[in-house]
Amino acid sequence: MNLNRRTFTAGLSTLLIAPAALAQIEGEHIATKPEHPVKAIQDTETRAQRNERMAWWRAARFGMFIHWGLYSIPAGTWDGKRIPSVGEWIMNTASIPVADYKALAPQFNPTGFSAETIVSLAKAAGQKYIVITAKHHDGFAMFDSKANDFNIVAATPFKRDPLRELAEECKKQGVKLGFYYSQDQDWTAPGGAAYKTGDHQPPTFHWDPAQNGDFATYLHTKAIPQMKELLTNYGDFPVVIWFDTPTKDMTPELAGEIVELLNQHPNLIWNNRLGGGYKGDTETPEQYIPATGYPGEDWESCMTMNDTWGYKSYDDNFKSTETLLRNLIDIASKGGNYLLNIGPDSHGVVPAAEVERLQQVGKWIDVNGEAIYGTQPTLFGSEAGSFSATEKDHEGKPKFIAAWDWRSTTTPNKIYISIFNWPANNTFHLDKLPRKVKSAYLLADKKHLKLTHTGNSLDIHLPEKALDPIATVVVLNT
Ligand code: GLC
Repeated sequence: MNLNRRTFTAGLSTLLIAPAALAQIEGEHIATKPEHPVKAIQDTETRAQRNERMAWWRAARFGMFIHWGLYSIPAGTWDGKRIPSVGEWIMNTASIPVADYKALAPQFNPTGFSAETIVSLAKAAGQKYIVITAKHHDGFAMFDSKANDFNIVAATPFKRDPLRELAEECKKQGVKLGFYYSQDQDWTAPGGAAYKTGDHQPPTFHWDPAQNGDFATYLHTKAIPQMKELLTNYGDFPVVIWFDTPTKDMTPELAGEIVELLNQHPNLIWNNRLGGGYKGDTETPEQYIPATGYPGEDWESCMTMNDTWGYKSYDDNFKSTETLLRNLIDIASKGGNYLLNIGPDSHGVVPAAEVERLQQVGKWIDVNGEAIYGTQPTLFGSEAGSFSATEKDHEGKPKFIAAWDWRSTTTPNKIYISIFNWPANNTFHLDKLPRKVKSAYLLADKKHLKLTHTGNSLDIHLPEKALDPIATVVVLNT
């Protein structure tokens, strides 16, 4: 494996910049743009305070996203027709009137739901935290809300609060819990916002007069009271609030009111999708992995296992375990987190294809988790690929051509090399070592490996066959 100078230095320079940027003097406030009507924790905390607040999240690297709600009943089909796009958007994509959609609630009785099963699945997969949809764009609350009765306890025969059951089970099993809350879009509450689909017309993009109303009123009478409930009724949880699809309705002033709420929970981590000019804590690339990550930033790539977040009965376009696992390793090598989604069905049961893949990922992590959790990004860089000199991406920028032979993660005294593509003649070659390498071994069986140093290059002599066809980890002691 030869690293050519340009991509090596390019990769290295990106990563070298990151640490320098991070190395602000302890106690120094980070200048944030723009002036917020209400200062958020990101505007006031020091670098040290931020590192402390983000520490568990950064070390976790792997989380479970759960999209579950009334949309799991139609499961992608309405009036006998298959509805394109993601399942959780069916009300909008199929222009379902509010009354018809709300009529799903009395049919929702997911007695197959088991918090223990789901938390155990996350744990077995190696997912350190769970983020579940407390309320999605359809406005249905998957928790016991006194603020609005369109919820799973008041409006369905199920009458149980899955968020409470998950909170108790997460506490028991040592998994952290966060809540996704659609703060702007709400397609069943008058005044709730809506993103455009199909021929829905501006300015509201509503498709049913029952949706019309005042956004600030919706926020003050439903969204903010529900966020208060979510932030106070579930013990130590949530540790994360996952906002989504901000709209122009969310002015800095209205967002400021939500920030006042969030500020009362100083350890809370919230993403960059609140709106109103607030940056939040985490960048959230969706359904893709950024070419070189977000150097110096906390970021989390969220992804579906098939083509939908919410359950669709006929969507079996599942990614392979190999793809999911190499995504996780790729993301960790770029200093990010992977929030991988499951979409339980209307019985509350996780589709078998998702269970199988998570269990297989978990098996690899049981052996190789050390190369993922609590690691820092690669010290190399160009192993991830390079920007094409000729091809352009959809933004007209040089297209990134990913390479999938290996990835690397780092800890103070170790460099982890996850090999995807076993090298010819069983010799793995590294140029320009970023650190002095003392010895090397295979992580899975601790077998010591012979090394040949040539100047600042290294040949690692590997066994005949890869120990794991998806990724075999070599550990370099440095
Ligand atoms: C998008 C989808 C939304 C989903 C979210 C997850 O915003 O519209 O339905 O919940 O991605 O990242």
